[in-house]
Amino acid sequence: MTEVDSPLDAASQQVRRAAAEKQLRPSIAGFFDEATNTVSYVVHDPKSCEAAIIDSVLDYEAASGRTSHGSADRIIEYVNTNNLKVTWLIETHAHADHISAAPYLQEKLGGKLAIGAEIIRVQDVFGKLFNAGTDFERDGSQFDHLFKDGETFALGSIEGIALHVPGHTPADMAFIIGDAAFVGDTIFMPDFGTARADFPGGDARELFHSIRRLLSLPDETRLFLCHDYKAPGRDEYAWETTVGQQRRENIHVKDGVSEEDFVKMRTERDKTLAMPNLIMPSVQVNIRGGRLPEPEDNGVSYIKIPVNAV
Ligand SMILES: [Fe+2]
Repeated sequence: MTEVDSPLDAASQQVRRAAAEKQLRPSIAGFFDEATNTVSYVVHDPKSCEAAIIDSVLDYEAASGRTSHGSADRIIEYVNTNNLKVTWLIETHAHADHISAAPYLQEKLGGKLAIGAEIIRVQDVFGKLFNAGTDFERDGSQFDHLFKDGETFALGSIEGIALHVPGHTPADMAFIIGDAAFVGDTIFMPDFGTARADFPGGDARELFHSIRRLLSLPDETRLFLCHDYKAPGRDEYAWETTVGQQRRENIHVKDGVSEEDFVKMRTERDKTLAMPNLIMPSVQVNIRGGRLPEPEDNGVSYIKIPVNAV
């Protein structure tokens, strides 16, 4: 018996409609940040010019504690040059390797800041780790909108649907816009594999199910990844692939790889990975919707490092 998965069915139908009709397909620009290997996207409806910005990056120099806006300003320039109207600022999850520039972009361009509804679980875990105190709300209220599995939205006449894809973190979402899926940290390029599943609340088994769910979308679905690290034998960064290509070629999860084999591989590999350089500042700021902690009485914001706690 096959499981009923109506959000997935709805997403598949949406992809098929968009694949058949050009007007239902979005224009997509990827912006690669080499310092954190992150890809940010501006996705828009060419007809109405309504746009979403997905997974933006605030530049952060860890040694000096200085932030800057080079990456975000490139996005602003693109939005302005193309006369786009930003309606959504979307985070696929609370990133552990870069700080989000969403509040800065929202101030300059408008739009609603959104993330997956399960962010409250991530806020709870990290609120405790950073001893954030009672003034840190753990109800997602730092965001304008919390997406649930199967929830639909639109960019002008282009359809969108959110899918909950936990595993890397409990709150990860994929956003399917027209025929394009923005899959966050689930799957990477076929020659690199998949995202790690060892952060607090992460789960390799859940990640496998989430990835297989995404790979149940039609073969022609365009997949846009959140990161790229190149791969042995590949000198160029890449971030676009398709469901069909992943099912044939992904070194971790192509068709035929069993759940048990995946979980074993992922768990063993995660044990060898160091924590991302910017995990402490990133998580601390991103669970606050990308806002720095409240300034202290001298007007300066501080980032905490929990010592010997992780
Ligand atoms: Fe991530």
